[in-house]
Amino acid sequence: FTVADAKEKDKEILNVSHRGASGHAPEHTITSYKMGEQMHGDYIEVDLQMTKDGELIAMHDETLDRTTNGTGQVKDYTLEEIKQLDAGSWFNQKYPEKAKAEYEGLKVPTLQEVFQTFGKNANYYIETKSPEVYPGMEQKLADMVKEYDINKDTLLVQSFSADSLLKMNQIDPSMKLVQLMWYTSPAALTDAEVQVIKQYAIGVGPNSAMIDQEYVQKVVENGLEIHPYTVNDKDEMQKLIAWGVTGMFTNFPDLLHDVKKGK
Ligand code: G3P
Ligand code: CA
Repeated sequence: FTVADAKEKDKEILNVSHRGASGHAPEHTITSYKMGEQMHGDYIEVDLQMTKDGELIAMHDETLDRTTNGTGQVKDYTLEEIKQLDAGSWFNQKYPEKAKAEYEGLKVPTLQEVFQTFGKNANYYIETKSPEVYPGMEQKLADMVKEYDINKDTLLVQSFSADSLLKMNQIDPSMKLVQLMWYTSPAALTDAEVQVIKQYAIGVGPNSAMIDQEYVQKVVENGLEIHPYTVNDKDEMQKLIAWGVTGMFTNFPDLLHDVKKGK
């Protein structure tokens, strides 16, 4: 891997700000998403959960406990209740060296607020989380994309659930979809699996620790994108780029930007 290689690949490799620039600021806040853009992230990654009253919000966990001062299941609370919560102070407590006063009291954003803040031409990489817990989540997402006239050329929808992606595909065949994969042992894909994924998705997102060069090349040779997650280490970024990945999720889009520039 040389600087020249990095420069050549610079344009191709998508820098996905995982939960925003979540290595620097509280994940899934407008602040961390903005920071992701400022730090040269190409895409804002948004995980979706759904409130008791059917609103889509940006949150990773099904429960409020880790990233807010609330407790319990998201699905048991209305949006109004969730809007009372502090989604930033936990970060200051967990990472005192990165703490900032402005993170205190940050709110959980709705998908609507994300679309309103970043506009129809921003690059969104949206995950339907726990779709089995939230019937109707896919339709709601499609409705929001339509309402806010989101540019579908720069929208990616991702899920671990093939069912959820197939639903999205049925609702709107023009949506670009990415199949997430979670491997607990060295990753492999059969030709048959690749062909099934190709029927509805433009790419795959595997956990990076379990893949190798052969896996990456098999995916790429079959014309699929490959965006491993979650890559926060410079050496690992360089290794994955050398293997031929077409993008990656990172909590540190600034670091990936430097790596892409050969720094
Ligand atoms: O969506 C890619 C990656 O974020 C999947 O894992 O648990 O961080 O949503 P998770
Ligand atoms: Ca995710």
